[in-house]
Amino acid sequence: MYLTKDEERILGGAEGESAQKAMELVVALGKIYNAENLVKITSAHISGASYKTIGDGGLRYLEDVSKDAKVKVNSTLNPLGMDRDRWKEMRITENFASKQLKIIELYGKMGVRTSCSCTPYLNDNIPSFGEHVAWAESSALSFVNSYIGARTNREGGPGALAAAIVGRTANYGLHLKENRAPAVVIESDIDDSLFSSSLLGQAVGMTIGSKIPYYRNIRPGVEEMKSMAAAMASSGSVAMFHVENVTPEASAYDISGLERIHIGKKELDDALSSVNTTDDIQLIAFGCPHLTVKEIREMASFLKGRKKRRNDVDIWFCTSSEVRKKCPDEVRILETFGPVLADTCMVVAPIESNYQRTGTNSAKAGNYLPTLCSQKVMCRDFVKLMELVL
Ligand code: F3S
Repeated sequence: MYLTKDEERILGGAEGESAQKAMELVVALGKIYNAENLVKITSAHISGASYKTIGDGGLRYLEDVSKDAKVKVNSTLNPLGMDRDRWKEMRITENFASKQLKIIELYGKMGVRTSCSCTPYLNDNIPSFGEHVAWAESSALSFVNSYIGARTNREGGPGALAAAIVGRTANYGLHLKENRAPAVVIESDIDDSLFSSSLLGQAVGMTIGSKIPYYRNIRPGVEEMKSMAAAMASSGSVAMFHVENVTPEASAYDISGLERIHIGKKELDDALSSVNTTDDIQLIAFGCPHLTVKEIREMASFLKGRKKRRNDVDIWFCTSSEVRKKCPDEVRILETFGPVLADTCMVVAPIESNYQRTGTNSAKAGNYLPTLCSQKVMCRDFVKLMELVL
């Protein structure tokens, strides 16, 4: 693999031991995937911020790397295992909280922004079309590949951090235009509601695995796109998709000879069945991926003037701290039903300590809650879930 003089210098240890190790990792990945060279990146998004997911091993790794490493590009972090101000309301233990706060401090020491959301593309990490980036978090990287047209592979947490430290990533996979072509056309006649979009993504991921789909006949907005991206990345491993007349690269490809798959009501019902495992809930959690201002406004508009009547069910609304600040009046309405938590989510928080059955309107959460949080899941749209407690 070709390396520039500067890259050789970092590999030789000129920028310190952590940068050297980071370059070794980036180069090793490049060799595995037959990359010809490295490309400079403009941003990174790093997963592995929750103490629940990285544990003491991850904490020790960060203590080690942060001794002499600094990121070279705009770098953001995925959600934490708790709201850093309201962790007591989440019934998080002191031990968990102190280790979580230490993790944030270590990332901050390396120059990583500690805003901690899975929708950084709405706030402080907004790549432009054609830029090379190194993003972990499967829903976010699929969103920026697809909706924005930035270029990233499906990075893991350590790979994204290493790329951020050296400012480069290996040039293979979705960094190359020829690998961004659609492989299958999805024809769908479903409605364009948020919940149907999540189930559509679930059905497509279950059907096509890791292929790149090209959607026709749908007009998703930002909220629907993020829900589809999240569902496809978790029911399958889709890292990019095109939507006719919506995403910026869709018109660049000839789709005439591609396989066509129809997704209709039956496929959506099957997708829903795949994530529904209970009729009873203790927690309802919204915001996977993190809620946008528009979603919070719509929820507040539905809930205004209503009352929660069941005390045996908790409700969480998960978003980023930036979004929470942008709509204080609507947040106040939601807060009468449950906390609007910032920079955390129902999957990376240790909810299994307090709950066994969770309701969600997100197919992605439906996929991960059983495996990462030992939950039985009720997957319904927002209104149907709220009607259970009103
Ligand atoms: Fe975001 Fe957590 Fe879902 S990181 S995409 S809210 S699982």
